[in-house]
Amino acid sequence: MFYTTSKMAGANTAGQYKTVHPFKKIGCIFTFILSASTAVVGQNKEPIVIATNNSALVLSIGANQRVYQNYLGKRLINKQDYALIPQGRYEAYITGGMEDQFQPAVKVTHADGNPSLELQYVTQHVTQTEDLVETVIELKDARYPTTVTLHYDAYQKEDVIKTWTEISNKEKGEIILENYASSMLHFSAKAYWLTHFHGDWASEMKQEETRLTHSALEIDSKLGTRADMYRTPVFFLSLNKPADETTGELIAGTLAWTGNFNFRFETDERDNLRVISGINAYASAYHLGSGKTFVTPAFIFTYSTAGKGQASRNLHSWARNYGVLDGNQPRLTLLNNWEATHTDFDETKLVGLFDDAKKLDLDLFLLDDGWFGNKYPRNDDRTGLGDWDANKTKLPNGVSKLVKEATAKNLKFGIWLEPEMVNPKSELYEQHPDWLLKLPNRAENYQRNQLVLDLANPKVADYVYQVVDHLLTENPNLAYIKWDCNRTMSNAWSPYLKDRQSDLYVDYTLALYRVFDRIRAKYPHLPMMLCSGGGGRTDYGGLKYFTEFWPSDDTDPLERVYIQWGYSYFFPSNTISAHVTSWGKQSLKFRTDVAMMGKLGYDINVDKMTAEEVAFSKAAVDNYKRLSDVIWHGDLYRLASPYEGNRAALMYVDQQKTKAVLFHYNLNVRYKELFGAIKLWGLDPQKQYKIEEINTFTGIKSNLAGNGQTLSGDYLMNQGINLSSGKIVPLTSMVIEISAVSK
Ligand code: DGJ
Repeated sequence: MFYTTSKMAGANTAGQYKTVHPFKKIGCIFTFILSASTAVVGQNKEPIVIATNNSALVLSIGANQRVYQNYLGKRLINKQDYALIPQGRYEAYITGGMEDQFQPAVKVTHADGNPSLELQYVTQHVTQTEDLVETVIELKDARYPTTVTLHYDAYQKEDVIKTWTEISNKEKGEIILENYASSMLHFSAKAYWLTHFHGDWASEMKQEETRLTHSALEIDSKLGTRADMYRTPVFFLSLNKPADETTGELIAGTLAWTGNFNFRFETDERDNLRVISGINAYASAYHLGSGKTFVTPAFIFTYSTAGKGQASRNLHSWARNYGVLDGNQPRLTLLNNWEATHTDFDETKLVGLFDDAKKLDLDLFLLDDGWFGNKYPRNDDRTGLGDWDANKTKLPNGVSKLVKEATAKNLKFGIWLEPEMVNPKSELYEQHPDWLLKLPNRAENYQRNQLVLDLANPKVADYVYQVVDHLLTENPNLAYIKWDCNRTMSNAWSPYLKDRQSDLYVDYTLALYRVFDRIRAKYPHLPMMLCSGGGGRTDYGGLKYFTEFWPSDDTDPLERVYIQWGYSYFFPSNTISAHVTSWGKQSLKFRTDVAMMGKLGYDINVDKMTAEEVAFSKAAVDNYKRLSDVIWHGDLYRLASPYEGNRAALMYVDQQKTKAVLFHYNLNVRYKELFGAIKLWGLDPQKQYKIEEINTFTGIKSNLAGNGQTLSGDYLMNQGINLSSGKIVPLTSMVIEISAVSK
């Protein structure tokens, strides 16, 4: 940890801060509070250092008492050197309406109509535990009782900084927040490359890289109920030259917010780049009442000098330790029925499917959409949404009978819900016409034949909570929920918010989080999948409450190589649900091998499989269970990118470097195309490793040259192994288990 107690005491003796509480020790937590309440004149030389084990963000207080960003980069060896860094050109959290003529981080209109903010340093608090250092910097407007608090949580060993702000209105009247970024970061490099991800339904997470010019570029969304679809709330920003997997200086960033987001990259004439991250302020001027505080969502970033691979490993370990519900706990393999049956099922059929799940040795059966609605049975997506009683024709004995039957077969049972939505053909719609988001004086606008409920209304939020709580109370053995959200907000107007419509986007997401908070207070560890008509809710705002997410409705495994590859930069494998389905014409082995690099599940007609296919799949599930600790919690090394050639390869290595799993996929390989050896990464050069192909059909000889041989980590990492000897067949794959052996 960078700041020691003696360093802080030094700051006090230098007389630059007034110490309010000299030093508090609470258990193993150390807290410092440093304040400038005795007006300090002249530049404060003592910098504010927010450091992780390998990176540092340095701020300082200028002569005008504003806070500037001096540095963002590698952690310096000598902590005294931070004080030598000149004051940065730009403030750490630039305000609108004052001198700066680029985009501000925050813009406020005061109750008297004054559209400006001038933020000056008041005090800072540092709370330190072994793994986390929390720095809180309080700022206050020079003339108005508006305060802004900057938060920086520095996760030491993960090299991740989580940053957000709190804006408090201490005026007598309401103020309007026009912009309210979570983070503003400044960079000074020769050039910048931005890697971002775009897509649509069933084609999520397509990677693109662009060089930034002397202009502004925004990556944003305006979808209301979700963050992701056309653009994903994640990016890499490479400095000076494009980074690759192992080299290059960059940050990887993501916003923990399940609603409209905005990342803005603006470069000035001197090549200074400001990156502003936060909620999209589009149509969202926020009304902040007197005495109220607005807390922005967290922007999470990591700085790496060793390329994208290191950055994503940092994010993965942060996510498992802090960002995802039960990130270090096991996950359940499952059989889902959506692809296999859609809404066409009944109790007998489902109970039969339980046996199929058992045949594949899966842990859980997940019943998808179509199990509810009586006046308007949910037999397709036009009816019944909102009426969460089991359909009496399909399920005469209710959900509880299914839970009982599954439990009797030693299988867990999970269920699909979409409680934020309603079909106009539903009893809920008939009973609560005032609970819908829809414009007055306009025709109702549907996506997938449904409307969004007005979650800003506490009664509606309570109803949504009750739907979940009722189901779980009635069925205490219910073991899993898939939470779906199949439309975005458009033509939206909240009857509840009345003349505060511009609060809707924000209030919807905040209300959703309050529902999740209530669910988690009562059911803290129930595994839940976050889904949104494919990959719409792929953000750490939601994942805090969920164990995994659905990345895309596109389960064609060729497409999934790219989709899962993209998500793997920012999310650990145990969160990326990947199901073996009948999409795509590839072999069952290829489909299985692709799903196995993520959180494995099945969504397939098992009764249409041959006995060999069932045996292969069961063995694959058993392999997965045996190796899941490495796949879920190991370090990920991406070895060959599908964006750079006709193959993809990646491997997971456990912390002790004793076990690794390598996945290799030949994609649309050209006639006579040849591939060289693949060099492995992350092994111990001193160790010997046995290399064995797994996931082969019984009786099929392995294509791996030298299958079963033992090679040194040194050899594997420097010479590598040839995984594509002989004729390379398109859309074939290999999974290789790598085990350290004693000499
Ligand atoms: C969209 C999801 O992405 C699918 O997996 C499935 O659950 C359907 N909704 C059900 O309506």
